[in-house]
Amino acid sequence: MTQPPACSELRARALQAFLCPDLQRKCALTAALADAASGLWAAGANSGVGGVGGVGEVGDGADIPLAAKPADSLAPRLDLQCTFLPAPDQPGRPARPLLVAPDRVPKRKFGSPVGRAALLHAVAHIEANAIDLALDVVWRFAGMPAAFYLDWIKVAGEEALHFGLLQSHLISLGHTYGEFAAHDGLWEMAYRTRHDVLARLALVPRTLEARGLDASPPMRARLSAAGDEAGALILDRILADEIGHVAIGNHWYRWLCAGRGCAVESTYHALAAQYHAPRLKGPFNISARRAAGFSEAELAELTGDPS
Ligand SMILES: [Fe+2]
Ligand SMILES: [Fe+2]
Repeated sequence: MTQPPACSELRARALQAFLCPDLQRKCALTAALADAASGLWAAGANSGVGGVGGVGEVGDGADIPLAAKPADSLAPRLDLQCTFLPAPDQPGRPARPLLVAPDRVPKRKFGSPVGRAALLHAVAHIEANAIDLALDVVWRFAGMPAAFYLDWIKVAGEEALHFGLLQSHLISLGHTYGEFAAHDGLWEMAYRTRHDVLARLALVPRTLEARGLDASPPMRARLSAAGDEAGALILDRILADEIGHVAIGNHWYRWLCAGRGCAVESTYHALAAQYHAPRLKGPFNISARRAAGFSEAELAELTGDPS
């Protein structure tokens, strides 16, 4: 079991995990970070501080035990204002998988065992990226409430868990993460939106992560039809957690819109055009999107329903 790092400041630990190129260690660092953050959630429960993943209303974090006492020097702390410079351009990554342009990722037939392994590998790649995406939000964007960071640390911990489940399943099928080529589309959007937390939340959790809600049911059905019930159950677990991740993205996107005095829906359209977001294509998982906090107007727009 990897020991937590000596540093007790949670956003610095998020950056440390982000930069770690060894995925197994990155997962262990992230899990330890999530454990430490859950302790602060418990403290927040008694002080009215909470985001989507915690309890109560969103506070400014002033009540969270930010300063470690001398006898408690490794107690978790959260510095809301720290800016880490120079900001790295990309996360630490393993040498494999080989990253290629999206149209160069080999297409494989889903009906074969190797095709199903390639599909699970693609999902594992998304989860590996998702760890870095959540950690990046934590260390990169200063000046948000404590609950914001605790929410995204919780997300990072769940992404590490998802990756571990998929990697173990791939190994049980005679494969491993890294053996198939993959693309870098998720990180490219994160990099493009690195200067604005509002754009990041609009285009990563509310767009790219939300697409995962749509993709999950048909993928699950195909795994189940092929007899891979263990894989199907992993996708069930991931979908349940991902609804929560998109809900956290929606919550903080709306919080930022309210603070900046901008309209939720028209601002989203403007950001999607500015950052060249992929066009959303159905079929959509409307019930999951509704549970994740998209408004009825946004859902109606997706389905072309004018009501
Ligand atoms: Fe995930
Ligand atoms: Fe996620």
